[in-house]
Amino acid sequence: MAKIGILTGGGDCPGLNSVIRAVVRKSINEKFEIVGIKNGWKGLIENDTIALDLQSVSGILPKGGTILGTSRTNPYKQAGDVQKVITTYKKLGLTALIVVGGEDTLGVATKLVNEGLNIVGVPKTIDNDLSATDYTFGFDTAINIATECIDRLHTTAESHHRIIVVEVMGRHAGWIAIESGIAGGADVILIPEVPIDMDEVCAMIQKRHARGKTFSIVVVAEGAQFKQGSMVLKEQKLDSFGHVRLGGIGETLAEEIEKRTGYETRVSVLGHIQRGGSPTAFDRVLGTRFGVKAVELVKEKKFGHMVALSGNKIISVTLEKATGTLKTVDPEYYELAKVFFG
Ligand code: F6P
Repeated sequence: MAKIGILTGGGDCPGLNSVIRAVVRKSINEKFEIVGIKNGWKGLIENDTIALDLQSVSGILPKGGTILGTSRTNPYKQAGDVQKVITTYKKLGLTALIVVGGEDTLGVATKLVNEGLNIVGVPKTIDNDLSATDYTFGFDTAINIATECIDRLHTTAESHHRIIVVEVMGRHAGWIAIESGIAGGADVILIPEVPIDMDEVCAMIQKRHARGKTFSIVVVAEGAQFKQGSMVLKEQKLDSFGHVRLGGIGETLAEEIEKRTGYETRVSVLGHIQRGGSPTAFDRVLGTRFGVKAVELVKEKKFGHMVALSGNKIISVTLEKATGTLKTVDPEYYELAKVFFG
């Protein structure tokens, strides 16, 4: 009987439990044994597992987070950890491992395929920055949360005649900023792909004021940077995977806008609210389709592949293709967003 392991790694996001449930249900239908690896790669390093059955996935579909837990542990950071991962994989007698993660977790998976592990990937991240898939699950929930926040910030900005800068997540891609900004009717949207020109930002705000508007909403992605100067970071700390922790641009931007325009400005950093809570119907369905397809790929022995969304079809692509380059916002899309600036 085939035995499948499943782990969720990197930042959590809504929809992870939909994938776990689908993988378990489909595996049981196929008469595969299924084991949950706890806390991402850390669980394979430490042989920390949990048996999964119908009972363990009952009622988890609408729940945010992941019942398996997660971590940003990178086995390639600490000498000996990769060997521990391989040893646990063998000890557990796994036929295949389903890895649910973003760029970092799937990057590790890509390397482990070359070490001989049978891995199938599932693309997860609120950032939507994975290549070779139209959408990652978690993104739709994040933009809906951010849009609701922008709607709420509109009413207070309007009442107080203020500028409100809304800092959203997204790492080095502007997907959350551009989509929540368009949906929320932001007056300026700033993304990592286009360096910030302060003269232009202030000119757009002034333009609004000149036509009688006494408030503005500026959405900025945490990874956006000023045209001049270095990247603004609140702290220099690295996360456990080894990446610098982003954040802080919103505050600097708000100070600069107030200084240059004289308009009272506030900042609201949405942070982990964007990742919390119940997934949207879209993310539940996408996670479910991804989960079922991942087990089908195991059945077909299509290892080293990742499930992906292409149009409305679930396809498979190589992990290498998915993790090779970051999917960023293209200039054409930003031009569309700009129609509504100022
Ligand atoms: O990759 C998802 C994400 O939420 C990014 O948008 C953000 O920069 C990062 O994770 C935050 O990481 P942490 O949860 O470790 O603070």
